[in-house]
Amino acid sequence: MSDDVMNHYPPLPRLPAHVGIIMDGNGRWAKQRGLPRMAGHRAGVENLQRILDAAMKFGVQIVTLYAFSTENWRRPHEEVTGLFNLLREVLDKEVAQLHQNGVQLRHIGDLEALPDDLKASILRTVELTRHNDRLIANIAFNYGGRDEIVRAVRAIVAEGVPAEAITDEVIAAHLDTAGLPDPDLIIRTSGEMRLSNFLLWQAAYAEFYVTSILWPDFGEEAFYEALRAFANRKRRFGALDDSS
Ligand code: FPP
Repeated sequence: MSDDVMNHYPPLPRLPAHVGIIMDGNGRWAKQRGLPRMAGHRAGVENLQRILDAAMKFGVQIVTLYAFSTENWRRPHEEVTGLFNLLREVLDKEVAQLHQNGVQLRHIGDLEALPDDLKASILRTVELTRHNDRLIANIAFNYGGRDEIVRAVRAIVAEGVPAEAITDEVIAAHLDTAGLPDPDLIIRTSGEMRLSNFLLWQAAYAEFYVTSILWPDFGEEAFYEALRAFANRKRRFGALDDSS
């Protein structure tokens, strides 16, 4: 296919403002090539850059990326430290470029259990990029939906909010995603059809898109395909269709 055809994406009638991505399949990608699992995670980081560029190109405003879950601590120690080191590397080497491109980096999840230097580096990056407005990239690192809800409930109780004053809005305002709209679309790569503790509260009315493509291979065209599928979905938010 010529570059011209490859770069042509018909405009879509509707775009999700916020896309959540479960970046799954790095391990399988590496195994298929006879490489160690960390090589798959490295390829996953490279793809992350491609998808951030694609999100800006297509006009998505917010992406939330599931990079390390509260359950991922159960993986072998060397994979856990390998993933921490990868994040350190991204924060050291890639942030200047992301900042220049107008990306606002945020973090969701429990920072407290992360090594002090990583926590400090995340906080510095969030502070540095906080006024950027081209794309919000929310990195879910040591994130679990249940853990987030538990922390929110604890904060609400600690503030002494009376039971009858607790509403959807109060809970949402105490989550790590406070102030952001809920995801419209959640993409999961590599074929598994579950949420795996990702954005449990926020996903209430998200459209779900699963592809068998492994994360390192999920490029711009595959991302466009997910956006196209979203544009064709009918969202009812629990109500009836106009035609019903
Ligand atoms: C799932 O693949 C992926 C993860 C648990 C980590 C996702 C991480 C990245 C894309 C790179 C790290 C990102 C940053 C910002 C440091 P898997 O290992 O579960 O794959 P498998 O199911 O094929 O084994």
